[in-house]
Amino acid sequence: MASPEPSVNFNLLHRTCKLVVVLCFLHISVTVFFYVRSLDIRFAFVQNQQSRDANDTATGKATATGTIGSTGAAQPPPEAQAGGQAKDEPAAAAAGKSLKKCPETSPLLVGPLRVEFNVPVSLDDVRKANPQVGPGGRYKPKDCQALQKVAVVIPFRKRDEHLKFWLYYLHPILQRQQLDYAVYVINQDGEETFNRAKLLNVGYAEAMKDYDFDCLVFSDVDLIPMDDRNVYKCFSQPRHLSVSMDKFGFRLPYKQYFGGVSSMMKDQYLSINGFPNNYWGWGGEDDDIYNRLASKGMSISRPSGEVGKCRMIRHERDKQNDPNPQRFDRIAHTRETMSKDGIKSLSYKLVAKETLALYTKITVDIGKP
Ligand code: BGC
Repeated sequence: MASPEPSVNFNLLHRTCKLVVVLCFLHISVTVFFYVRSLDIRFAFVQNQQSRDANDTATGKATATGTIGSTGAAQPPPEAQAGGQAKDEPAAAAAGKSLKKCPETSPLLVGPLRVEFNVPVSLDDVRKANPQVGPGGRYKPKDCQALQKVAVVIPFRKRDEHLKFWLYYLHPILQRQQLDYAVYVINQDGEETFNRAKLLNVGYAEAMKDYDFDCLVFSDVDLIPMDDRNVYKCFSQPRHLSVSMDKFGFRLPYKQYFGGVSSMMKDQYLSINGFPNNYWGWGGEDDDIYNRLASKGMSISRPSGEVGKCRMIRHERDKQNDPNPQRFDRIAHTRETMSKDGIKSLSYKLVAKETLALYTKITVDIGKP
């Protein structure tokens, strides 16, 4: 009698082979999935860091303006300090002809951007990725005359990790936006209660000593735009730029909200006597600024919710920045107080001004409540 064994073995072998084929298929699928994903991430990186080719075509060949000393402080060439072009001026400028104006909409913009904070960045990498940014965080397009001279002012204290992300994302964006810009980080000295609006006033005062800026952009250090069509410039009305923050579910928390990132022409800022100096601690100062603008009959301009998307770097509440209990009372009296409290009555002590490779750091003693 024939034994049934060979058929059993054959069945087993058949099933094992099938399993092996399925496992191989799964393995290949997973490999392909992760490979495609890594391509996507690399593409996003290139997009965020701007295409060197596109940039070189649009702004001339990359040049390093200034050298970095052992302390990390840059030694600017005199032309760069004055906001001028360094060595490789374009032919038109060198020949004494004036450059034609940059277009209303920069052709270098790429639209939506991937913004992530899970991999830390180093200042060295940011510097290498932005060779055309000069000492003090200054840049202007080389092939056309920027439409606006913009000082970007960031109130700051002990947020170095956030600042690195900000510089990493914003320098490429601001260059693609074809702005003549400089970055000012206003660092509150000491351990007293934080005062965001007063630091912004200091930023205005110090930036104007350096260059005839016609537009001021005021940005929190932890807010990154997710679309480079959200141009960090000024408009005929004061502009609110951070209109759809992830923190608020990508919508405005309330119609009058003016916090996060905003911009104003110099004359708009001066017509409201700048910002209040007496909001110590968290909250209210942006509402006061809104009240100032409204009292002067200005309205707020905003990008669309899509273009105005931005991400906030999550963090614990800072020490010495508890909610200001006086804010409700202050906001209720903006119209009476704004002419007395503002840029005209600003006083502070300049502790240090450092022209660093990617930004100008101004350390100030702004007193206490
Ligand atoms: C505060 C603002 C703050 C807003 C959103 C308001 O209650 O007064 O300063 O920007 O909430 O957090």
